[in-house]
Amino acid sequence: MHKARFISVEGIDGAGKSTHLAPMAQWIRAQGHDLVVTREPGGTALGEALREMVLHQPMNADSEALLMFAARREHVTTVIAPALQRGAWVLSDRFADASFAYQGGGRGVALAHLQQLELWVLADLQPDLTFLFDLDPATAHQRVVQGSPVLDRFEQERGEFFTRVREAYLARAQAEPQRFHVLDALRTPEVIFAEIKSVLLARFS
Ligand code: TYD
Repeated sequence: MHKARFISVEGIDGAGKSTHLAPMAQWIRAQGHDLVVTREPGGTALGEALREMVLHQPMNADSEALLMFAARREHVTTVIAPALQRGAWVLSDRFADASFAYQGGGRGVALAHLQQLELWVLADLQPDLTFLFDLDPATAHQRVVQGSPVLDRFEQERGEFFTRVREAYLARAQAEPQRFHVLDALRTPEVIFAEIKSVLLARFS
């Protein structure tokens, strides 16, 4: 049997991770793996309800962080952990790194609070591999504006916010180089996807 793997995909809004999710899932399944594809915030009925709130309702930064982790606890206990236990692979569109980047870097929520929540909510669960789509905020913003007519609370943020989010992501990647693979997201989707496949093959076959 194939060993269960947990893969997350991260990046600032507009970096292009969503473009790659379906092809990645298709490719992983074609290698013969049972795969659960999921997302955060979301992935469960409670998580999707909380997603609506955090994306659209004004709230303070600590409340936002707590709701992200509440959604994540439900996600971990009802979707991710059971899937991994039965030997399936899990591909998640964002996971805990997003809270360190957006609520920590972007909004300025204290790192110590996020670390406490991470310890509580994740216990010792971390992705085996995290792809970070790295792109400058100006290019990412152009892609967001072209792609969606209505912008959510995060997409409406300004360049400095996304500069801080990006820096927090890169700091996390630097602290855990064995878990992260940083992708230069300025390149064409074909080139990026080829790199993703070669990383998956090198790490997991
Ligand atoms: P995103 O994956 O960008 O959704 P979509 O591309 O389908 O609109 O996620 C929604 C937003 O949620 C995104 O702007 C980042 C934000 N977010 C946080 O701020 N903290 C978190 O912990 C997570 C998981 C997401």
